[in-house]
Amino acid sequence: MTVFHLRAAGVSLVLDTRGTAARILHWGPDLGDHLPAEDHFVPAVPPSSIDVPLRLSLLPSLEEGWTGRPALSAGPLRLIDAHASENTAFVRHSSPDSTQEVTTELGMSAEGVLRLRHRATNRGDAELTVPGLDMLLPIPDSAAELLDFTGLWSHERLPQRAPLRHGVWSRESRHGRPGHDDAFLMIAGEPGFGFRAGRVWAVHLAWSGDKRIWAERSALGYGVLGAGELLSPGEIRLAPGESYATPWLVAVFSDAGLDGLSDRLHPWIRAHSPARLPRPVVLNTWEAVYFDHDLGVLSDLVDAAASVGAERFVLDDGWFAGRRDDRRALGDWFVDAEVWPDGLHPLIARVEKAGMDFGLWVEPEMISPDSALAAAHPDWILDGGTGPTWRRQRALDLTKAHDYLLDRLSALLTEYPIAFLKWDHNRDLLTPHSGRQTRALYRLLTSLRARFPHVEIESCASGGARIDLGILELVDRFWTSDTNDPLDRQSIQRWTGVLIPPEYLGGHLGAATAHVTGRTSALGLRLATALFGSAGIEWNLTAASESERLDIAAWITEHKRLRPLLHTGRVVRADSPDPAHLLHGVVAQDRTHAVFALVTLGAPRAALPPPIRLPGLDPDRLYTVRPIGVPPRTLQDAPPPWLAAGSATLTGRVLAEVGLPAPLLTPEQALLIEVSPH
Ligand code: DGJ
Repeated sequence: MTVFHLRAAGVSLVLDTRGTAARILHWGPDLGDHLPAEDHFVPAVPPSSIDVPLRLSLLPSLEEGWTGRPALSAGPLRLIDAHASENTAFVRHSSPDSTQEVTTELGMSAEGVLRLRHRATNRGDAELTVPGLDMLLPIPDSAAELLDFTGLWSHERLPQRAPLRHGVWSRESRHGRPGHDDAFLMIAGEPGFGFRAGRVWAVHLAWSGDKRIWAERSALGYGVLGAGELLSPGEIRLAPGESYATPWLVAVFSDAGLDGLSDRLHPWIRAHSPARLPRPVVLNTWEAVYFDHDLGVLSDLVDAAASVGAERFVLDDGWFAGRRDDRRALGDWFVDAEVWPDGLHPLIARVEKAGMDFGLWVEPEMISPDSALAAAHPDWILDGGTGPTWRRQRALDLTKAHDYLLDRLSALLTEYPIAFLKWDHNRDLLTPHSGRQTRALYRLLTSLRARFPHVEIESCASGGARIDLGILELVDRFWTSDTNDPLDRQSIQRWTGVLIPPEYLGGHLGAATAHVTGRTSALGLRLATALFGSAGIEWNLTAASESERLDIAAWITEHKRLRPLLHTGRVVRADSPDPAHLLHGVVAQDRTHAVFALVTLGAPRAALPPPIRLPGLDPDRLYTVRPIGVPPRTLQDAPPPWLAAGSATLTGRVLAEVGLPAPLLTPEQALLIEVSPH
């Protein structure tokens, strides 16, 4: 067998399949056409160690002398086959008695994104238990600082950084969904890496259930990033001939900081799970009316939404039989006959007459103990309904309820012209067998999409507790967070956006006083915050003033003009020495056009804030820059001249290196800047 060199867009993966095990010799910057001689990667043998050089394999285990966290608890396996085509390698290992086989697929995309997964197959004639099967990738000694994420409801994707010391830093999710505290990405990089600089290696597990993702630096000298499904004992038992495929590990290297990761991931995601563009501007009823469903009130809201330019009207929770509050009725997916005597037809007719399409909220994986469904099928409650309820609800065992849900959802989608489902999931499962449930969910979504390919689906889980690349193969949009407070949203969107392109991330304009935090924010900041993603409104517009409605209408017009750029361009974020100043933007792929937002989270550290340096533009091109949107509040005796003049003409080089003198924004303001070819 041989050495495979998977290469694309400045990234190399070198896979050695000579000998009895496959080994990744290098994952990182492109090594060029000439790989070192065969033995170059063989290390020395240290004292007090195994007597042969320790070489990390694709499935590291005790048998080879690896005393770090193994990839497969059962072993040993030996390499029996390897081949590659089109930047994808397949390697096959087998147990000495040939009863257990593990095939690994490693593919490098044109963008330099590496995907890796194993498939274990029972080749014997007795049952085989798979105790755990993980993917591991080596990282160099220079990757000495870690970044991953934690969070809580309405505060998803809080970054946390720490040095990578000897030992394992492992993040484990047992929520039955990734959870608000999902690690999301495990990033190891050169100390001090930022958005624009530093070498970084990152992994994400494309999986919506229990999982672990970790970094390890062993005292032996090796460093790895690893991830896999978190399996409970005995969860995967394979009958003879059966296989278990792990989720995909998505792995990215960048020599240009976190933006470099997005530069690979975003185009790859856009090609792999394309969003349907243009993303319609949504009005969602949740924070506008909550459970107060009334045709008259909602009809007024429909008209208000259409008058500002919304394109989709989404009826949130509260429409189905007996659902008067969040304590009941989940599972009874019939339109409530009391509230909606003529069904949803009159509302949808109004929505369509106003020129919008219609979306509906559902939470199919759940069941309320008092529902008719629970009375009819008590055995469908996951794990028999022991353990605490959560939001007064329980989970449905999807392996049992699959057909019911497919029929009910199909009936709704057939009776009504529904363009969009907001698919919610509002509790942790608290079951040891969540993998079964996750696979059943994927099956259900796959069946539904096959029947109704035109229906878009949004993954929502109490906000952003289920945002991952596994479910993204089956949905079109994520509800990023339940908070519409723009200050929280700035941070949540910034970090979620390292992995997920903006057009997949729902971001809505909320009321002046945010419902979740009680904080009041300026309209300009709220609009600027909701401009970049899949935009929408979550506010009772009938209560908005005339001038607010005019501003919102102008914002929607701007969003529609800019969304072809915002939803296909390169996301850039500046590193700022002042944590009160955030700068982010989107630059067209051909670098002719860009939009940036400067956001002040608090008071600046200096009377004169740093200049606004705009990254990602073509250094040699001449651009015109001008402010757009609602002007932010400032406190200054005189604005910088370019702002007073209303525009400036500068090269990309000057904009990146010298920048624009910043106006003195008061806290919690946003300045939007459009950059166009001169
Ligand atoms: C949680 C979601 O995140 C909210 O947006 C809303 O849909 C509620 N559930 C409805 O119960």
